Amino acid sequence: MRLVLLGLPGVGKGTQASLIARESNTPHYSTGDIFREILKSSSLLSRKVAKYVNEGELVPDDIVFEMVKKFIAGDEVNANGWVLDGFPRNKRQAEMLDDLLEEESHRLNFAIHLTVSRNILVNRLYGRRVCSNCGAIYNLSMNPTQKEGICDKCGGMLERRKDDSKETILKRISIFESEFLPLRKYYQDQGILIEVNGESRVQDVFNQIKERLEIGQERRN
Ligand code: AP5
Ligand code: MG
Repeated sequence: MRLVLLGLPGVGKGTQASLIARESNTPHYSTGDIFREILKSSSLLSRKVAKYVNEGELVPDDIVFEMVKKFIAGDEVNANGWVLDGFPRNKRQAEMLDDLLEEESHRLNFAIHLTVSRNILVNRLYGRRVCSNCGAIYNLSMNPTQKEGICDKCGGMLERRKDDSKETILKRISIFESEFLPLRKYYQDQGILIEVNGESRVQDVFNQIKERLEIGQERRN
C-alpha cells in the first residue's frame, strides 16, 4: 500500500509510520528524518536546507520533491508500497506526488490524518528524545527508555531535536495550519482521507489506523 501520514508536529506521524511500515513490510520514509541526516554532512544541499529545518520553516517544494522522488522510485524495495511521513505538507506537494505516481501507473491508496489537540502536542514535543543512531522515538514521560539517555533498541545516545524548542514548536504549528486545509480537502475530494484521533495510547492509535485501513480497502474493492 502507498500511504501518507499527515498531521501537526508531534501528532505521532513518525511513531505510527514506523509501526505501519513494520506491519506491512514496506519502507518508511520521513522527509524530516532524511533532512536531519543530510544536515550531518557538509554538502551543498545540507547548507541549502539547514536554516529551514532548524528554524521550523518549510523547505521549498522543489527541493523536497527531488529528494522524495529518489526514495519512492518504482524499484524492488518499493514493490509493496511505502509509508511517507511528513510529505506532502501542502496541496502543491500532493499534486506533484500524484503526477509522479501517475507516470508510474500507481496511485496513492490512503492519506491518514492524525489529530491531537494543541496543548498535548507541545508537551509531547518538549519531552521527545530521539536516538542519534537509529532514529527511534521516545518520550521522557510517556514512553521513556529503560536506561536514561540510552536507546532500548540499539544502545545509541538519545538527543533532543534542534527544532523542539518552544518558539520553534509554535512556529511549526502555525506554518502547518496555514497550509493544511487545502491539502485536507484535496484528499477528501479523492475519497482517500482517513482521520484518526491520535490522543490515546500508541498501540490504540495504531489499532484504529489498521481498522480504518481495512474498512477503507473493503469499500474500494
Ligand atoms: P518533521 O520531522 O516531519 O517534523 P514535524 O512534521 O514537525 O513532525 P514531528 O516529527 O515533530 O512529529 P511527529 O508527528 O512525527 O511525532 P512523533 O511520532 O515524533 O519535519 C521537520 C522539518 O523538516 C520541517 O519543519 C521542515 O523544515 C522540513 N520538512 C520535512 N518535510 C517537509 C516537507 N514535506 N516540505 C517542506 N519541508 C519539510 O511523536 C512526538 C512525541 O510524542 C514523541 O516523543 C513520541 O514518543 C510521543 N508520542 C507519539 N504518539 C504518542 C501517543 N499516542 N501518546 C503519547 N505520546 C506519543
Ligand atoms: Mg516525525
